[in-house]
Amino acid sequence: MTKKFTFLGIETSCDETAAAVIRENDKGTADILSNIVSSQIDEHKKFGGVVPELAARAHLENIEFIIDSALSESKISIKQIDGVAATAGPGLIVCLTVGLNIGKSIATFAQKPFVGVNHLEGHALSPGLLKKINFPYLLLLISGGHTQYLIVKDVNEYEQLGTTIDDALGEAFDKTSKMLELGYPGGPNVEKFAKLGDENFFKLPEPIINKAGCNLSFAGLKTAVLRESKKINGEEKLKYNLAASFQKTINKILYKKTKVAAEMFSKKTKVKNFHFVVAGGVAANNSIRENILKLSKEIGFKAIFPDIKFCGDNAAMIAWAGIQRFKKNLISKIDMPAKSRWSLDSKAPYMKGPGLKL
Ligand code: KG4
Ligand code: ZN
Repeated sequence: MTKKFTFLGIETSCDETAAAVIRENDKGTADILSNIVSSQIDEHKKFGGVVPELAARAHLENIEFIIDSALSESKISIKQIDGVAATAGPGLIVCLTVGLNIGKSIATFAQKPFVGVNHLEGHALSPGLLKKINFPYLLLLISGGHTQYLIVKDVNEYEQLGTTIDDALGEAFDKTSKMLELGYPGGPNVEKFAKLGDENFFKLPEPIINKAGCNLSFAGLKTAVLRESKKINGEEKLKYNLAASFQKTINKILYKKTKVAAEMFSKKTKVKNFHFVVAGGVAANNSIRENILKLSKEIGFKAIFPDIKFCGDNAAMIAWAGIQRFKKNLISKIDMPAKSRWSLDSKAPYMKGPGLKL
């Protein structure tokens, strides 16, 4: 019988302070021994977005308690774990360093291996916590900072097929919520109020929907929402109509772009009936899940969504990515720096800024 590894995971890349203890099981997935997430929603609510210095201070105030809670809930002592994984990037440096430094310290004092994890790899491998999925699979990573189609070939092996050339999808939801004064955090509120509106009321632009492969763009859509929001004078019904029309437009774009990404994936990998994983905070959105499921029936892939509690930022996915990397001997040096930018595919072209040709 091969050894089953147990890891402590730590996540502080943005506005969630999180720690988890997970152990591999015989099914090739994970037993979640603890998964503690402390959200800073109240801290950032009054500003309508994440304030880096406030986020870092809140991480510092909470991190010890969160790690203690994760360990005591798991009934595992530091001595019994096989390694420590902490998010090393991408994200806000002032936030990342809090979790990274404490993770390194625990690993050093306990004489355990340390793995610095790419937050995006955490999201990419997150469905594996509860379901065994074979490589390669197609991934749509939709979070507050990233929007990408990737081929997940193996742990540490990614090929980017497309990305946003401007805003991330979560960002577009958050800004829409702010413009319509629907509250913070934005994504869940847009989804909630969209249910009350008429999705066909506003005709909004669908930037680059028919060009640039499976690259995406949301800036023009956001500007159109801003323009319309100024005309409606805060009238509730119209606000809901605009939220619903925005979400419908997003779904139309994702439907088309996923079709293109699926074709690219099949061509490159020659794999038929493949798994398509949708991960990251925005993957919690039910209308997006339904939209992708509809497409899966049309073109025959198997859609996989992580459990809702593993869509948003959490440390279980970081511990899981840590275990996968540890098993491949991808252990980090203890002086590994935090990285604000860190692409999963180092060969992917940079798709932002002036002069971009599509
Ligand atoms: O993965 P995540 O927790 O953090 C990052 O790595 O960025 O994603 C956060 C993003 C936020 O923009 C949030 O508004 C969005 O995910 N989000 C949603 C929903 N729940 C969270 N967007 C749309 N619909 C939702 N239900
Ligand atoms: Zn995330």
